[in-house]
Amino acid sequence: MDKLVEMKNIYKSYEGVVALKGIDFEVGFNEVVGVLGDNGAGKSTLIKIISGAHCFDAGEMYIKGVKINPKKYSVKMAHSMGIETVYQEKALADKQTLWRNIFLGRQITNKLGFINIKKEKEETDKIMHDVMGFRGIGVDVDSVIKTLSGGEKQGVAISRAMYFEADLVILDEPTMALSLQEVKKVLKFIQAIKDKGKSCVYISHNIANVYPVSDRFVAIDRGKVVGSYNHEDLSLEELSEELIKYTKVSTQINQGERIL
Ligand SMILES: Nc1ncnc2c1ncn2[C@@H]1O[C@H](COP(=O)(O)OP(=O)(O)OP(=O)(O)O)[C@@H](O)[C@H]1O
Ligand SMILES: [Mg+2]
Repeated sequence: MDKLVEMKNIYKSYEGVVALKGIDFEVGFNEVVGVLGDNGAGKSTLIKIISGAHCFDAGEMYIKGVKINPKKYSVKMAHSMGIETVYQEKALADKQTLWRNIFLGRQITNKLGFINIKKEKEETDKIMHDVMGFRGIGVDVDSVIKTLSGGEKQGVAISRAMYFEADLVILDEPTMALSLQEVKKVLKFIQAIKDKGKSCVYISHNIANVYPVSDRFVAIDRGKVVGSYNHEDLSLEELSEELIKYTKVSTQINQGERIL
């Protein structure tokens, strides 16, 4: 087994819309793959298949060399195989506190089966400092998620993925604009995933964000892979030139502006 994820000729339709038309896609061990493409290209659909949220209609998928049966595969199974996803739309429960979000669906329980609130709060505090690098200012374990900034929310979702020791963290960048500081934080998280020897699939609309942290880039256009590039083979400018053919990605990170 030399690949963490291997997809061959994957098809997926939603009631009449063919979202993926024969996708070949791979993620190696300790590899960060940047996925780029226009709105509606099929990026979220692709990662939802890997994360078990959607099943594919045709093709083959292997996770760590294990052939996946699309009818039996689920988010739960993906978790057990070390795959965690930070979704574009709704990564967190907005009305819940930070600590509840970290352990949502995977509570720490005591012998009687009750949630061990004290332990969950302590662990969250640790995660906030060690993984997220939150330093006080207004955010603590009892903060309600909707009061956090976009970048902080992404941070919580990524930290949760890292806390559960995922082998693969999939990040579908939110369509809302993150501030420059928040983008930097997300990029730091991705670097930390790489440094820990884990893998990441990072979907972004901005190649300037994806470029420094990715080992490889995959461009998707109208349900097909239209390009795959290694970081060492091309500069950000060259990648941008390549992608301009297919996408409306932005490179304007320096101005703090983003075209989504
Ligand atoms: N649940 C769904 N039901 C019906 N059609 C869908 C559904 N999800 C996605 N689609 C369609 O499938 C295509 C691919 O959508 P997808 O969300 O994968 O694109 P994307 O590349 O993630 O776009 P964006 O950059 O805007 O997030 C689009 O035409 C979209 O309208
Ligand atoms: Mg999407």
